Amino acid sequence: MSSYDRSPLVVTIDGPAASGKSSTSTLVAARLGVRHVDSGMIYRSVTASRLRGGDAPELWTEQSVLEAARAVSLSPGETSFVPRLHGVDCEAEIRGEAVTALVSLVAKMPHVRAWVNALVRQTAAAHEIVVDGRDMGTAVFPDARLKIWLVALPAERARRRVLQRTGRAPNAEELAAETAELEARDLKDREQTQPAADAVWIDTTGISQDEQVGRIVGLAEERR
Ligand code: C5P
Repeated sequence: MSSYDRSPLVVTIDGPAASGKSSTSTLVAARLGVRHVDSGMIYRSVTASRLRGGDAPELWTEQSVLEAARAVSLSPGETSFVPRLHGVDCEAEIRGEAVTALVSLVAKMPHVRAWVNALVRQTAAAHEIVVDGRDMGTAVFPDARLKIWLVALPAERARRRVLQRTGRAPNAEELAAETAELEARDLKDREQTQPAADAVWIDTTGISQDEQVGRIVGLAEERR
């Protein structure tokens, strides 16, 4: 990337489930004064839309998922582009267990991936964004100004996820169950979860969120 590049700023933040991508991206985007796009939320919204069809997931064809995707749009909020279903906020629905269990199946469909990627690229053509996901720095924005790869140990990711959901630290049983769930999802998402060769790796296991955000903002400002 040349130092004369004036294309809209894109910062990609990729990594496995619960590595802190989404919360970090929100804070980085706010500090840079740009909007955040959470590509996982788009896959979740497509899954929620298809689930509304009511038929068994074994019957879902790629074509039927693509048709369901047409109900999904990205709407600009103050700090992010928020996915909507038929124009309506669907945050609670897309975070539910039914969507989480089926989203990897939907995300494996090549035409669905192409559809999501086109939606994100279209957004970035007109706006500076911080975008998080699994393959934003590889498949979607190979020329992004800054690419971050976030990692954390599975038990630490599980601890954060339970804390986020319940507001308290997990007991040993919850921690084991959550770690197993995350590792199973890592396995299902393995093919599309790859770091870009030129990504900056940040292991968030032992550092505070402030520190991670500060490092990424510093790098983004250098390259802006
Ligand atoms: O990030 P989040 O856990 O919300 O993502 C939900 C799912 O969407 C992931 O488990 C993965 O299957 C899929 N995904 C993807 N590529 C992305 C973002 C998410 O395949 N860029």
